[in-house]
Amino acid sequence: MATMDAVERLRQNFREQFGAQPEVTARAPGRVNLIGEHTDYNDGFVLPVAIDREVRVSARRRSDSEVHLFAANFERRTVFHLEDVQHHPKERWSHYQRGVVLMLQRRGYKLGGFEAVIDGDVPSGAGLSSSAAVEVAMGTAITALFGLDVEPVQLALLCQEAENEFVGVNCGIMDQFISALGRRDHALFLDCRSLETRQVPLRGASGAGEAGTQIVVSDTAVKRGLVDSEYNRRRAECEEAVRRLSQWLPGITALRDVTPERLEQHAAELPEVVWRRARHVVTENARVLASVDALLSGDLTSFGRLMDESHASLRNDYEVSVPQLDVLVTAARSIPGVLGSRMTGAGFGGCTVSLVQGEAVAEFERQVPRAYRAQTGLDPSIYVCRPVDGASVLV
Ligand code: GLA
Repeated sequence: MATMDAVERLRQNFREQFGAQPEVTARAPGRVNLIGEHTDYNDGFVLPVAIDREVRVSARRRSDSEVHLFAANFERRTVFHLEDVQHHPKERWSHYQRGVVLMLQRRGYKLGGFEAVIDGDVPSGAGLSSSAAVEVAMGTAITALFGLDVEPVQLALLCQEAENEFVGVNCGIMDQFISALGRRDHALFLDCRSLETRQVPLRGASGAGEAGTQIVVSDTAVKRGLVDSEYNRRRAECEEAVRRLSQWLPGITALRDVTPERLEQHAAELPEVVWRRARHVVTENARVLASVDALLSGDLTSFGRLMDESHASLRNDYEVSVPQLDVLVTAARSIPGVLGSRMTGAGFGGCTVSLVQGEAVAEFERQVPRAYRAQTGLDPSIYVCRPVDGASVLV
């Protein structure tokens, strides 16, 4: 959650940029996915949490139809017209906001011109969904500003559409959903086909939380170079698996419909790589369901083991890990009190997520960066995360 200082700084920034008080300030968090990786675009299951790193937007209506944006983090300004929302190759950072404005209008919502300042502390390019946080924060600010009645689920869907169709990144639904619907001290179980959700407590029932187990994110500091092309290739391989398997399993429309046992029966009929990709997805879906059960029964040891298995599957079958992620995971697991550790997000760099007993966190923060630096020469960032609420209007 934003401290009052951060909000006051943003509002001050708005006054300096636009010479008036903002009418609305909204926020939306980044996320870390506990388990269920590369399952969302296969109609499967995910279990992310919203984290205490967020994007904030202060905004005020204008009397014309111009939109003026200032990105405080890069000190860039851009202007566009509501009737003519276009790409701006020199101000690509603004494509997320432009896309959200366009998608709201396409759905028939009436917007006027406005000015907005955007800032935040979700590290960008680290796989903690800074893009989704920008989209959802912008959407939340605009809907509050113009009194639009947009349910959080609808907001998440239109933000995903903005990213797919306007920004041009073919992401699934997980990131926008958790940024819009997260709940403090809960993980969000999402069925990416039906869009049904269940808030899974991380404190109380499970004993997780400040005094108990902590969610620790470690950033490899590796730029995620290959991520877009490899991500699209994985999606295509999953579609190929469905196409081939549907010869024997009529009626399936996604890997969600295939059980690990069924896949095993047809292993010989799929090209080896396609079979391994499919095996990751079907076993990962099963691991998410088992993880929810483990969390609900307070069995964090089993939950940690499922995280470890998820990493092995992403590394060996899905091949989206990189050596630096593997080094971080191994370093984390060598600390007594670490229950599980895995890469999180799309892969090819970015972050790991570890489940760490409260009393082991200090040792983790001391030892893991040291071991990682020694083996890679890179400086990792470590964030002990608090699970927070999804998007909200602050003032
Ligand atoms: C990225 C995408 C998500 C999801 C993950 C992998 O974060 O934006 O939709 O596919 O990769 O689980």
